[in-house]
Amino acid sequence: MIADGQNPVYLRVLTFWGFRRSVPKPIFRAMAILKIARMGHPILATRAAPVSDPNDPEIRRLVNDMIETMADANGAGLAALQVHVPLRVVVFQAPGERSTDPGLSSEESFDHTAPLTVLVNPEIAILDARPEGGWEGCLSVPGLRGWVERPAHIRYRGFDLDGKLIERTARGFHARVVQHECDHLEGRLYPARMSDLSKLVFESEIHHVMAAQ
Ligand code: NI
Repeated sequence: MIADGQNPVYLRVLTFWGFRRSVPKPIFRAMAILKIARMGHPILATRAAPVSDPNDPEIRRLVNDMIETMADANGAGLAALQVHVPLRVVVFQAPGERSTDPGLSSEESFDHTAPLTVLVNPEIAILDARPEGGWEGCLSVPGLRGWVERPAHIRYRGFDLDGKLIERTARGFHARVVQHECDHLEGRLYPARMSDLSKLVFESEIHHVMAAQ
């Protein structure tokens, strides 16, 4: 037996780790890739309910899982309804490469892009109702693309996970992705917004349509 004060270094190290191990471990839960509901599942046709507390840790957990699910599926946006949770929560991003018009002023250019954003209880106001067409896809409508006309310029607001208000104006792809995600919260998928269903096509065939445009 080794007396106190005579512990060789390795024993002191063991004692140190023993002490560390006695500290309660933080509760750790790995993020999860969630199952995405596909067109036809009734959850996608329901109206999502407002979130009463954006600070709720359960909402943060849901959002983390949504972000991981969206990234795994290579999507630009995801609404909670798409992962079977009927709450008014969306995540989206509008990367800079979607804003390709070199004639845009710096302010307008910002309107076309958005970092990865979480919006709880979002609302949209239309600033310019003139319709602008663009190709859309949806993780709940896999394999397809559709030409959808939507108002070109919007203002939107909602809360982040700290309950802080986010308010932005948006144009271009940015305006499109926010409107697409908020449509999900009303139980509406993009094909319901289409006026010309001949422009609902498989991704693998879209080059034919684009070549004809
Ligand atoms: Ni969608």
